[in-house]
Order: sequence, then C-alpha cells, then structure tokens
Amino acid sequence: MADIRLEGVAHSYDGGRTWAVKPMTWTWRGSRAYALLGPSGCGKTTLLNIISGLITPTEGRIYFDDRDVTGVPTAGRNIAQVFQFPVLYEEMSVYDNLAFPLRNRKVARQEVDRRVREVSRLLGLEGVLGRRSRRLDPGRQQIVSLGRGLVRSEVAAVLLDEPLTVVDPALKWTLRSKLKEIHRDTGHTLVYVTHDQTEALTFADEVVVLKDGAIVQAGEPAELFLSPAHEFVGHFIGSPGMNMLPAEVVDGVVRVEACEVGAAALPAGPVRIGVRPEFVRITQERVSPGVPARVAGIDRMGAYDLVHALVGEHRVTVKTEAGAPCLPDTVEFLHFPAEHAFLFRDEVRCGALAPLNGRGQA
Ligand SMILES: Nc1ncnc2c1ncn2[C@@H]1O[C@H](COP(=O)(O)OP(=O)(O)OP(=O)(O)O)[C@@H](O)[C@H]1O
Ligand SMILES: [Mg+2]
Repeated sequence: MADIRLEGVAHSYDGGRTWAVKPMTWTWRGSRAYALLGPSGCGKTTLLNIISGLITPTEGRIYFDDRDVTGVPTAGRNIAQVFQFPVLYEEMSVYDNLAFPLRNRKVARQEVDRRVREVSRLLGLEGVLGRRSRRLDPGRQQIVSLGRGLVRSEVAAVLLDEPLTVVDPALKWTLRSKLKEIHRDTGHTLVYVTHDQTEALTFADEVVVLKDGAIVQAGEPAELFLSPAHEFVGHFIGSPGMNMLPAEVVDGVVRVEACEVGAAALPAGPVRIGVRPEFVRITQERVSPGVPARVAGIDRMGAYDLVHALVGEHRVTVKTEAGAPCLPDTVEFLHFPAEHAFLFRDEVRCGALAPLNGRGQA
C-alpha cells in the first residue's frame, strides 16, 4: 500500500478568496487506518476528493510513493472511495454490485467469487446476495456501498466519507469493528472521515484533526486525549471537553484570579490553562497550590459525577467518582496536577504548568 504524500496542497473554490484547504504538507502512511476528524465545513470532503482525484488542488502536488499523481485522473489512481450515501447499480443484484469493481479490472472469476463472498461474510450480506439492490433499505444499501469500497485488495487506499451516516446506530458499532477487522486482513491505507470523536477514536490507529482547512494535530487517540496541542483538540476530543481557564503569567508564576497555581517558563502575559475534567482534583480542604471555586451544580451520571464549579465567572467541570460529596453553593478547592495541565496562547499550546517548588500560596 502506497504512502500518500501531500506537498503544499491547498484548495480554493472561489479563485483564492477563501481556502477550503490551507497549504498542507502531510503523509498518509501505507497500511495505516486514519480518522480525519473535524466539524462541518472544515474541509474533510475536499481533502478526500483531492486524494482521489475528483478535485485538482489549486496549489501543491500529490505523490503516491514516488509517483507524482497531481495530474492523474481518479481512474488512474487506483483508489476506492465510499461516500456518505449509497452509490449502487440499483437494478443489479447485491452480488453483482460487489463484483463490479473486480470484474471491471478483469479479475479472474474464481477470485471475484472468493472476494465477494469474503466481504459479504464480514459485512453480514450473505443472505441478500441474490437480491436487487433497489429492494434493500438505505442502511443495507450503504453497507453494500461499503463492500464495494472494500472488495478490491490491491488498491492504493480506501477513502470513506462519513460512510455510516445513514446506517442504524446499533449497527454502526458492529460495522466499525468489522471495518477494523477488514483493515487488519487487507492492510489497506484507510482514511475515514467523521465529525464524531467516538467514531474516530474507536476506529483509527491515528486521528488527524482538521480545523478551518488546516491540520491542528495528528496522533494516536491517547495522545490527543492526554496531550492536546491546540485548544480545539482539547474541546473536540473528550466528553465533556477540556476546561479552559484564563490565567496570567507574572515572573514565571501562573495565577488564576489572585491564586498561584503553578510555574511556567513563559514571558509574562495572559494564558489559558487547559485541564481535562478527569484530572482536576476537587477537595473541601484548602489545597496549595489551588483555587477556590463555588459549586454551581452536579450532574449525577450514574457511572460518575460531573461537578460544575465556578472560579470567578469561569466554569470548570470536574469528573469524579459517582456520589461526589459536593453540595451546590459550597466553596471547594480545585487543584490542577502539573502533569495534566497545559498552557495555551492564541489557542496553541505553549507550555505546561510546572510545580511551584514550595513557593505555593498559603
Ligand atoms: N463545490 C463547492 N463549491 C464551493 N464551495 C465549496 C464546495 N464544496 C465545499 N465548499 C466549501 O469548502 C469548505 C469545506 O467544505 P467541505 O465539504 O470540504 O467540508 P467538510 O469538512 O466535508 O464538511 P461536512 O462535515 O459538512 O461534510 C466549506 O466552507 C464549504 O462551504
Ligand atoms: Mg463532507
């Protein structure tokens, strides 16, 4: 499977007034499963279509390994693409739909049969192989489309653009794990577009987070969770997202309101402290360093509690064990563990909160 390298690739639909994809240099490595994650309009589909050749980028070059494919049309790129909605020959049987991409490439009949049966077994389509596609419900039709994308074993990459949108939620889980299984078997390079973090995190070896046409961070799920490089990754990944608390750096000390919460080797000025709800500690006793906060409300979620506390007017959410002993309107103390608290300036991570080395406030 090929590495797919984008070099300075950018795309504008309006002659350069706005950019759907901003200049980007990035390699999709062969045989990996990627999730391309980002909100609506951030450029996910544009980027996929650039890889498949449906769109020629306004700027930059695309390589499959060392082969420059920038000017090569879709048909010459050997890519399988699955769209959000079913793309099928409605009058053909499910079997023929699945066989089509192989027959089209003159694959031997026995091999066609073997692949079709293999893919239909994995996707649970064995029972409908003889049926006309038109007679299936949209969810099933989409699974057939997915099968058409996965049936060829020699493709350079499989690109999936929110392929499970029309599929029943209960089936989504099953299909995602099937997809993972198929990926393990075939070793395709997979790029799976989604705006759903759960989908991205359960599916991918590596998650690429896109915002406003630019990659803000790429990494394994745990890396994005534990070490977000951009405020957007903090918000977008995690449930609830990362807390962001305005703070001030003065002489290497980070203060929230009047409290010292840690040290930072940064020039003086405003920062935001990012710390996930899972890692904030909340206690009734005064802690040092720590910040007083008024409990505004508690959501009892069953498996855990979410305590919403206010530091001044800024909300900090704390995820605690179920049955947190907090009461609304009481004052508690928040502590931000240095290893899990990061500092952001202009939305980009610029450092981490360091211990105060005994200089903490009383
Ligand atoms: N054919 C087009 N002509 C003009 N502008 C377009 C076209 N397609 C997309 N855009 C614009 O380009 C930007 C990126 O769109 P794109 O469809 O790539 O985003 P997306 O991340 O796939 O969004 P969604 O999650 O809604 O599918 C958006 O601002 C969109 O309005
Ligand atoms: Mg899209």
